[in-house]
Amino acid sequence: MSNSTLAIYPGTFDPITNGHLSIIKRALKIFDRLIIAILINPQKIPLFTLEERIEMIHASIKGMQNIEVDTFDGLLVEYAVRKNANVILRGLRAMSDFEYEFQMALMNRKLNREVQSIFLMTDYKWFYTSSTIIKEAARFGGDVSGLVPEIVNKKLKEKFTLSKNA
Ligand code: PNS
Repeated sequence: MSNSTLAIYPGTFDPITNGHLSIIKRALKIFDRLIIAILINPQKIPLFTLEERIEMIHASIKGMQNIEVDTFDGLLVEYAVRKNANVILRGLRAMSDFEYEFQMALMNRKLNREVQSIFLMTDYKWFYTSSTIIKEAARFGGDVSGLVPEIVNKKLKEKFTLSKNA
């Protein structure tokens, strides 16, 4: 039997941002349980390894209840079924997200009509931030504190200082 109060929150999380965390906190008020599911994607070369991303997520959600961190490969809807979840949760930011999210939601729905995509609108504070733009700013020494959890800020600095000195 599927559990309607379990939601899967999938993504690349390279790295987790305060925007993600805001969605996670709000989702925990709606769903009984949440699984943060990191896609293992051989096509993408992430800045942070899978282990680093998992570590940063764990540190960022410390103290939160009813939440777990997992990884998956292959189709998201198949992963959701394996986890006995029928909700895929995504955050929506600016209009530019809409087309991509709509495409994904329609494809997921075609693949499995039992799994519902649910969207939470991001808080206005994170409307224009993304992992990509944060990495871009941090790469050139920009201050991204306040946009990411402290551990991520630290790891970004470490990563870019190391690569500059390499
Ligand atoms: O954080 P991202 O990179 O926007 O997350 C994208 C993600 C992981 C949700 C998406 O790429 C995904 O679900 N990939 C798994 C493969 C899949 O199921 N594709 C079919 C739906 S388009």
